[in-house]
Amino acid sequence: MQSFFEHSILQRAKNKGILEVHLHNIRDHSTNKHKQIDDYQFGGGAGMVMMIEPILACIESLQKERKYDEIIYMTPDGELLNQKMVNSLSLKENIIILSGHYKGIDERLREHIVTREISIGSYVLSGGELPAAVLVDAIGRLIPGVLNDETSALTDSFQDNLLAPPVYTRPADYNGWQVPDVLLSGNDKLIEEWRHQQSMERTQKRRPDLLEND
Ligand code: ADE
Repeated sequence: MQSFFEHSILQRAKNKGILEVHLHNIRDHSTNKHKQIDDYQFGGGAGMVMMIEPILACIESLQKERKYDEIIYMTPDGELLNQKMVNSLSLKENIIILSGHYKGIDERLREHIVTREISIGSYVLSGGELPAAVLVDAIGRLIPGVLNDETSALTDSFQDNLLAPPVYTRPADYNGWQVPDVLLSGNDKLIEEWRHQQSMERTQKRRPDLLEND
């Protein structure tokens, strides 16, 4: 996970001092001599549950350093992540993202400590680390100064609830595969209209749910 953050676009942001990402191992906060962080479920059943104490100790040690706007728990039964949520989270100052493992975390943490629960999709991964990395990447790239003009987030898919239009580069003719004439026309207005039209068609065809009002 460390290497993911080191090699991603976010590394540039970290180098520029725009963004800080710190990883914390819950096990380092275990008070137990075996460094235990999970235990059997009350009531029986397969799978271990992450205990309250080490998670809370970790969170409280972080809260001593700074104030956090959100404590987000990554879980498949959370609110489904979308661009709108990412946009609003990118305006926050400090966020804790908690990745669960095993059967998840003790429900009382979800009731009393967690401020938001997020799922990255309707499938189950073996832990919350990848979902947390997805969230950090999606938020991080929106922070001013992280992306340059070429990678600007303004023209991303989903920013207007529309998918992005198709893009082309040289050559204009690859063995008979042609770039649409309009893109070679130099007429900015026509190009803009064409792109919007393509976005609409693409969204209609692939993600009609995005066009429903929310
Ligand atoms: N943990 C395991 N699966 C997950 C998912 N789909 N989203 C968020 N956290 C998860």
